[in-house]
Amino acid sequence: MIHTYDTQIHYSRDMNGETVTCFRLDTKVSTYFFAASDAKFLLHGYYGSRAGQDDLSFLLHLDVYPHTVKSNLREKGVIMGAYGFEYPCHGIGDYREACLMIEDKAGMTTCDFRYVSHEVMKGKPKLSQKDFDVIPATFEGENSCETLKVTLQDSHTDLTLELYYSVFEELDVITRSARLVNGSGNPVTIRRIFSTCVDYDESDFEMITLNGSWGRERVIERYPLRHGKQLVDSICGESSAQSNPFAALVRPGTDEEQGEAYGFNLVYSGNFTIEAQVAQQHKTRLVAGIHDYDFAWVLEPDYDFWAPECVITYSASGLGTMSRNFHDLYRGNLIRSKYVREERPILINNWEATFFDFDTEKLLSIARESAKLGIEMLVMDDGWFGRRENDDSSLGDWKVNEEKLLGGLKYLVDEVNKLGMKFGIWFEPEMVSLDSELFRAHPDWAIQVPGRELTLRRNQFVLDFSRKDVRDYVYGMMTAVLRSANIEYVKWDMNRSLTEVGSALLPARQQREVWHRYVLGVYDLMNRLTTDFPDILLENCSSGGARFDPGMLYFSPQIWTSDNTDAVERLKIQMGTSLCYPPSAMGAHVSVSPSQAVGRATPFATRGDVAMAGTFGYELDVTEMSEEDLAAVPKQIETYKKYRHLVLNGDYYRLSYHMCDAKWNAWEFVAKDRSEALVTVVQVMSRANSPAVMIKPRGLDPEAMYLVEEVGSAFSGETLMNCGLRVDLWGDFVSKRYHLVIV
Ligand code: GLA
Repeated sequence: MIHTYDTQIHYSRDMNGETVTCFRLDTKVSTYFFAASDAKFLLHGYYGSRAGQDDLSFLLHLDVYPHTVKSNLREKGVIMGAYGFEYPCHGIGDYREACLMIEDKAGMTTCDFRYVSHEVMKGKPKLSQKDFDVIPATFEGENSCETLKVTLQDSHTDLTLELYYSVFEELDVITRSARLVNGSGNPVTIRRIFSTCVDYDESDFEMITLNGSWGRERVIERYPLRHGKQLVDSICGESSAQSNPFAALVRPGTDEEQGEAYGFNLVYSGNFTIEAQVAQQHKTRLVAGIHDYDFAWVLEPDYDFWAPECVITYSASGLGTMSRNFHDLYRGNLIRSKYVREERPILINNWEATFFDFDTEKLLSIARESAKLGIEMLVMDDGWFGRRENDDSSLGDWKVNEEKLLGGLKYLVDEVNKLGMKFGIWFEPEMVSLDSELFRAHPDWAIQVPGRELTLRRNQFVLDFSRKDVRDYVYGMMTAVLRSANIEYVKWDMNRSLTEVGSALLPARQQREVWHRYVLGVYDLMNRLTTDFPDILLENCSSGGARFDPGMLYFSPQIWTSDNTDAVERLKIQMGTSLCYPPSAMGAHVSVSPSQAVGRATPFATRGDVAMAGTFGYELDVTEMSEEDLAAVPKQIETYKKYRHLVLNGDYYRLSYHMCDAKWNAWEFVAKDRSEALVTVVQVMSRANSPAVMIKPRGLDPEAMYLVEEVGSAFSGETLMNCGLRVDLWGDFVSKRYHLVIV
């Protein structure tokens, strides 16, 4: 609910009053309040648990220290450094992080945007700027929303700034983005344009971020704020395995079920920063947006620029609620694929089974065995094109290697279809190998600084996707393949970060735009692909999970979570990922034991139970499995089919985390109507003389009776949630499932 009103504030020091225009955004449990002062500064007032229906202008603290250049010009500088602002500008006395820095025609970088007008609208506008039609963002979908647009102007440069606040009331979510419009006759250079700023009057917060590396993506870190700046960021051209565009500010003591949590997630896949700064008076400012490191953007007259959207959610009941708010928003209002609510095919991917060493017969032998087991789709991974026998060559030459795939792609796909299975294929569209026809023909198509040595990674370069001609050419090759056979799934991979960032087509003064133009170019091509082939299920991937972010989710309902498929490591990775991303979006496969990533041996059943907490599949050679494991597959598939609607549409609860208790990981999916739940427990570290543990399910109907199928008895939801299920496991890495159904 958005409410705007004008009110009068009277100062304690003199009798002059000031009129402020107030903006109040209410969700189910939160209130966000800000106002335009008499001098037209956009001041932040409050964000937290829902306030009553009072006039909240007292939260601006203007009556204590009048904030108006009219009555207190003398102390404008002091005021700028002390008050909360909605979108702080660089250069006018607020020395905390600014959201905006613009270089004008005189080379000056000060800007000062003041409130002009506002408008409330139903739904929300699309993010789209000249030359780039689609910028991923949430939309009005399963959950409705309304939007407040506040327009500001910098009278010195004649630039207009529009701030957008969309309120998803039921989900306790507010999304923010900013659009800068150059209506002046002169170009300006944007040096920084963030998406959001939230100022808090206090600093008793802890910051949670997701950090890691290849094979160890999105591990939860939590630390108290201190004076100065704490941040999570990426400057490598993608959201990255090392960090994720997510951060939460939580109160000390906040856990899964209680305490305040503010979650921030940027709908962006490139360089970003999310930064918390504790400044004087113990105030905290959180800003988030495209990283300004090596960034600049020339905004020509009549052009606009959209800062990507930042999703913000408030929970007064711990991290679990925060996560479920994100999950519901992303499933209902961000992932635009038609498959978002559909049960996805259980796939088998040949990568960890064969790597590059396969041919038609090998793939068909895997498919034949898989079909017998009940697997629904074969995905042919890297190595089917050009002369690619290892990772040294052929990226960019998207033509089927018919020596390897005897009979051609269509023959293979038809044969797989005859077995009753779907067929999917791997691409790495953004890349070119040093040894490729494409690079030999168009060396200038790689991102590069002419005259400098290009840095190779995995023997490959990044194509200049800021260029439409490059994108068009790659797309032409991809569509020729996709149209040549009945391909129903694409895995879009991206296996290196950017170096020597420069583009052959842009003039010198626009070279700093390449980082962002590249990301917009990737979005452009994904948009074309998913628009032209709406029935293709798209799965994103980046050296495992190095681009698991909301920008990618907009296009693909599932993303490969990590190249590390070890069941124990996956517990950590999947739980970290679940802080803001829905489990239904996490590609999770059963692979061989001992794990190829860490050498750990785990039971087949546990690998299955862990993979069932996401979009389930297999990634091993079914023709070489032990009799025992092979015999277990049909049952495992049947089990996933029985529960996959819960993973897809249910509420997710983290019940226990072995990083905290060193023993168990337990999680739960609960149907939205609370009619059933699935609890899974994995014992990571067994202990001598350690009594059975009571695992307490959450989210049940306390009044209802639930049959615990595996125990054979029924208990009330109240008893189960308060007293718990007794779990007794013997040995390491063993797992157990409990299915609770209302009787
Ligand atoms: C990346 C992906 C893997 C696989 C390989 C192929 O590492 O994460 O799943 O597709 O590339 O080269």
